[in-house]
Amino acid sequence: MPDSPFTADRLLLFGATGDLSQRMLLPSLCALHDDGLLARDLKIVATARSEMSSEAFRDLARAALEQHLAANRRQDMDEFLHRLAYVPVDATTPEGYDELARQIGDYSDGLAIFLSTAPSLFEATIAGLERVGLTRGKVRIGLEKPLGSDLASSREINDAVAQAFSEDRIFRIDHYLGKETVQNLLALRFANILFEPVWNSNYIEHVQITVAETVGLESRVAYYDDSGALRDMVQNHMLQLLALVAMEPPTHFEATAVRDEKVKVLRALRRTAAGEVVSGQYEGGALDGERVPGYAEELGKDSITETFVAIKAHVDNWRWKGVPFYLRTGKRLPERVTEIVVQFRQVPHSIFAGRGAKALPNRLVIGIQPTENIQLTMMAKVPGLGREGIRLRPVPLDIAMPDAFSDVERRIAYERLLLDLIEGDQTLFVRRDEVEAQWEWIDAIRAGWQDDGMTPRRYAAGTWGPSAAIALTERDGVSWHDE
Ligand code: BG6
Repeated sequence: MPDSPFTADRLLLFGATGDLSQRMLLPSLCALHDDGLLARDLKIVATARSEMSSEAFRDLARAALEQHLAANRRQDMDEFLHRLAYVPVDATTPEGYDELARQIGDYSDGLAIFLSTAPSLFEATIAGLERVGLTRGKVRIGLEKPLGSDLASSREINDAVAQAFSEDRIFRIDHYLGKETVQNLLALRFANILFEPVWNSNYIEHVQITVAETVGLESRVAYYDDSGALRDMVQNHMLQLLALVAMEPPTHFEATAVRDEKVKVLRALRRTAAGEVVSGQYEGGALDGERVPGYAEELGKDSITETFVAIKAHVDNWRWKGVPFYLRTGKRLPERVTEIVVQFRQVPHSIFAGRGAKALPNRLVIGIQPTENIQLTMMAKVPGLGREGIRLRPVPLDIAMPDAFSDVERRIAYERLLLDLIEGDQTLFVRRDEVEAQWEWIDAIRAGWQDDGMTPRRYAAGTWGPSAAIALTERDGVSWHDE
């Protein structure tokens, strides 16, 4: 258990001039400020390598907010900007940390640190913080991915962090857990009586998880080419989604209970067999009627990094025996969509078969983004006298979240995560054993690729990945949801 719960009144942001900070962190903090959710005396100290004054940083922050935060959520922007101070720090040298400590001042009420820097800087940063005493007392640290590039490097990072922070003070971020619809998955499963009794291999035939993006490399050339889709998306976001779908009911919505259940699922993942993983890399193609370049062209050189991966995964436990989890993610796919599809089985006996009607199995589609909705496909009788036989047709029971909650503000995932970091709730953060179980499974896939000399298959930008990804499900008689 944490020493004692505390709400930090100091927030220290590393990587404060970076892309994540400008697009997500500063807008989230400003929106929280606007809603009066940040304590009045919370001071935010921003740091990065660039030399600049606090004044100049506030200008940068203002520009970022104007670009990335809706005007109605930054009505108190000037007041928010006043909370910000900036201290340049080169993480690899000891200088700078003293000034950081001076700016932070008295943090006896609590300090929350958010580290979104390259993992190669983690160790040096923690050493620097330790030297000026900023790891002791009421201090917690949030770590943004990537936390290593395989199990060994992830352990190294975790060990380094653990030297200065106990696990209850380490908040590993997976921003998918901050998404409203992802949390809603738990409400759907555990706040309704309807689903849990059928949430197992007796009633579920398979599960599909898709995280499709239309964007390509964007500006993250070096990082992405070293990473690839498997490590960038599957190792973290997709496995967390899988764990939330597959886990046993936790006893409480609380950090230990939820994470205990997730880690059991992650440890029950079976090693994938040859033929259960397809990787791909996009070539030039068309998206929304526009020509887009291929990956190698964007990168400026040939590469064997995968920008797409499809996997048939298995959770080896009683509940999920024989239920495949098909995972698929990629860049430059035809649309941006994150969704979970739970395909139920056929009714055991159709009373309508003799009347020429076919009952299709129910399907639950949980749309995470961009459309937040839950759709349950049910069979219904087509109205009519049925002289030539009964006709059945699937009809959706549809809950469009934005309509159902039109009176409630939609929040950026990081708003929730930053607030939980400041207030010390670890429920939506990833524990060390989870990250390591994730890496173990991913490393085995990568080792298989290496042994087999696997290189990604090509797919045209704007298509749903290589045809082998379609074959992966088709040979089980299953189609991807978009097909
Ligand atoms: C990040 C990946 O973790 O998630 C990116 O590094 C990806 O490659 C992003 O684009 C997707 O996040 P979201 O919230 O836009 O689905």
